[in-house]
Amino acid sequence: MKTLTKDALKNLAIGYNVSYRETLLLLAHIINDEHSHLFFEKTYDISADDYQNLHLFLSRRNKGEPIAKIFGRKEFYGFSFKTTKDTLDPRPETELLIDLFKKYHLDNSQHLQILDLGAGTGCIGITLLKFFPNAVCCFSDMSAKALSITQENATMHRVLDRSEFILSNWFENIDKKFDVIISNPPYVATSYELDRETMYDPEIALFAGSDGMDAYRNILPNAPKYLNSEGALLLEIGYDQAEKIKQIPSELKLARMEKDLAGIRRACIFRFF
Ligand SMILES: C[S@@+](CC[C@H](N)C(=O)[O-])C[C@H]1O[C@@H](n2cnc3c(N)ncnc32)[C@H](O)[C@@H]1O
Repeated sequence: MKTLTKDALKNLAIGYNVSYRETLLLLAHIINDEHSHLFFEKTYDISADDYQNLHLFLSRRNKGEPIAKIFGRKEFYGFSFKTTKDTLDPRPETELLIDLFKKYHLDNSQHLQILDLGAGTGCIGITLLKFFPNAVCCFSDMSAKALSITQENATMHRVLDRSEFILSNWFENIDKKFDVIISNPPYVATSYELDRETMYDPEIALFAGSDGMDAYRNILPNAPKYLNSEGALLLEIGYDQAEKIKQIPSELKLARMEKDLAGIRRACIFRFF
């Protein structure tokens, strides 16, 4: 057992150039404690193995690895999701799609058929299944590794019985219609310089051609064939894509566009009318 003083921990944080708050988060994860509670401690008793792990985590964080990738989990809409090198870590701005779904579209009395296209961790579809007990969701992704994580998360959140998983390049292997298709597809232009943390997300989850619009050019024209007549397509878009997305031909029309907390037009609803 090793007794670590607060000052020693602060010095460790400085040495690895990691903030004290994040260092506490890492320590809390290692010793399985609440990090808010650790703020008030004067000393920390940890085993030699845990101390070694703390150094390991600090060194990974120092290289730019996001906390979510180090922990292997990320919070989304108040739920915890497993995330790996094969999945995009869920982002707070994607929560807007859930808000939009709840606000404008559907109530939970219906037997909703949802398609989560490009599911990754499954954070979107799984969150919707938690809020809409009568809904069922088909999760699809082109990455088999990502889809196996979707399945793990669906199991962890006890929605497996209302879930289906399809390995598919967008709509290629989809053969039925849905009430809602919802997607946060890759939308980064290939020339865009990623920050250090985003580099830990898989490329397939990020890049979508020279203007970042390739996924939308597939999804928007094809979605009508997979939507019921009253159905809706909900899409997350990049910070500069609000005008570009309107130019993509589709039977669907833009019904709403919503801004995220930073005031950026971030989520769209498309419908047949
Ligand atoms: C931006 S991530 C979104 C993941 C998750 N839905 C979220 O919001 O956190 C995009 C997802 O689309 C998947 N993807 C990329 N290209 C695809 C394609 N051609 N067909 C199906 N899925 C694709 C990626 O594997 C990735 O999981």
